Amino acid sequence: MSADTVLVAAIEQLKKERNAIVLAHYYQEPEIQDIADFIGDSLELSRKAASTDADVIVFCGVHFMAETAKILSPEKTVVLPDLDAGCSLADDCPADEFADFRAQHPDHLVVSYINCTAAVKAQSDLICTSSNAVDLVRQIPETRPVLFAPDQNLGRWVQRQSGRDLTLWPGRCIVHETFSEEAVLQMKLEHPAAEVIAHPECQQNLLDLADFIGSTSKLLGYSESSNADTFIVLTEPGIIHQMKQRVPNKTLLDVPGLDGCSCNACPHMRLNTLEKLQACLETLEPAIEMDEEIRLRALKPIQRMLEMSL
Ligand code: 13P
Ligand code: SF4
Repeated sequence: MSADTVLVAAIEQLKKERNAIVLAHYYQEPEIQDIADFIGDSLELSRKAASTDADVIVFCGVHFMAETAKILSPEKTVVLPDLDAGCSLADDCPADEFADFRAQHPDHLVVSYINCTAAVKAQSDLICTSSNAVDLVRQIPETRPVLFAPDQNLGRWVQRQSGRDLTLWPGRCIVHETFSEEAVLQMKLEHPAAEVIAHPECQQNLLDLADFIGSTSKLLGYSESSNADTFIVLTEPGIIHQMKQRVPNKTLLDVPGLDGCSCNACPHMRLNTLEKLQACLETLEPAIEMDEEIRLRALKPIQRMLEMSL
């Protein structure tokens, strides 16, 4: 038996003993996706965290995702295999600076992308994810000005799709900002029938080259429904593991970062490992803890999102 097989068997056993569910995002390592009970995009993972009857949620993703699970299911133990698994968008938007920004726009409705801290969610009127952002902004009365944080690339895309003028916080994702336009143009020349599919966190020049733009789950769905048999995939390459299973006969091309670096792999997501997953099931640490007042304030805009989403 290989070391990994032993580890996987131990994790399965611990899951039963703890009555635990393992939730994983599509950017996790393939071996973590394979052991997960549920894989999804941020919206689907939030819904699952809110509805599960497990006692323990092991969140294989990044901190804001585990925090959202805790906000929705405070009675459950929520553990994140590596507490340092953060997100550049959440880091780019400190709660105190965000409070000043809001104060400068007192008449604005505050829409925050789920990739932010609980302290920023607590200052927001509505949370969105990349899969529902356009639809939610369209539902806001046109007379109401909107402040959108923290991802400016997503915000600009929502602006173009909804026709709404949004006041943007200047946050960015260090992963989606690194894709090389030159590499995509070269790949399109080499694969003229390929379709470019992109996450809306990419910069405008890359989104301009895309045939389809959407959240991770929507990109997966499009790879199945499109007639194309080759895709140039402009998002974190962890998603290719699921795509290969959904469309085994199609060609999936990962795009390098600027200067050919592999910085398109999210350094935060990739901190989680099978070993850390086993350890957190054993010790139920590191667990997500949060101030109850912040949790209750952060819960409201998340619940509003869930109610307003189709
Ligand atoms: P999705 O909600 O599309 O899965 O995106 C999460 C994320 O962190 C993208 O970088
Ligand atoms: Fe955050 Fe970007 Fe990593 Fe997504 S890919 S978790 S937005 S740093």
